[in-house]
Amino acid sequence: MAVRLGDIAPDFEADTTDGKVNFHDWKKDSWAVLFSHPKDVTPVCTTELGYTAKLKSEFDKRNVKVIGLSVDSVESHVKWEKDIEETQGQAVNFPMIGDPERSVATLYDMIHPNANDTMTVRSVFIVDPNNKVRLTITYPASTGRNFDEILRVIDSLQLTDKHKVATPVNWKHGDDVIIVPAVSNDDAKALFPGGWDEKKPYLRLVKQPK
Ligand code: BEZ
Repeated sequence: MAVRLGDIAPDFEADTTDGKVNFHDWKKDSWAVLFSHPKDVTPVCTTELGYTAKLKSEFDKRNVKVIGLSVDSVESHVKWEKDIEETQGQAVNFPMIGDPERSVATLYDMIHPNANDTMTVRSVFIVDPNNKVRLTITYPASTGRNFDEILRVIDSLQLTDKHKVATPVNWKHGDDVIIVPAVSNDDAKALFPGGWDEKKPYLRLVKQPK
C-alpha cells in the first residue's frame, strides 16, 4: 500500500549506522525526512548523501531529523561512507538504515518493480511532529534530488502550520505568502494587522510572517 499525504507514517524498527532505531521513538516530536536511495557505492547517491549531510545546521534550525535508507546492509553503508567523506568533503551525520530484507522499503512502497525490482527508487517522505506524512516525492535513479527544495517545502509547511498561510509558485523564504482561503477577511484582520494586497477575494498576498 502506498503511503499517502495525511497518513500516519508507518512505524518500524530497523538496523542503522547509529544502531537499532524505532522510527517514531527516534523522531519523537521532531519533523523527519526519511529518504531512500537506490544502491550504495553509486555516483549520484554519493553526491546526494554528502550534500544532505552539509545541510545539517539547516535541518537542525527547523527541528528536522534526517534518516536515509537503501536495501544494502549497514556494513556496506559504513564502508561507503568513507568514500562519501573523501569525495564530498563531508562526513555523513545522520543514520542510514540497512534494509537488505526490504522490510521498510516494502512498508513505504519504495520499490517500484516496473522501474527496477531490486533497488529502491529515490523516495522522500517529510513527516511532521504528529507523525503525519506531509510530503512524498519519487525520483528516478538517474536524477539526483534537490535537497534545497526539501528545505523549502519544510519552510512552507511550518509557515502553514503556524500562520495559516500558503506559499505561491516558486516561493522562497522571505517572499510574500498567501492567506489561506479558509481564513475570512474579518479573521485575517486580526492575524495580519499590517494588511494585505487583495488581487482577488481568493488571492490575498501578505508579507511573510516572522
Ligand atoms: C547512482 O546513484 O548514480 C545510481 C544508482 C542506481 C542507478 C543509477 C544511478
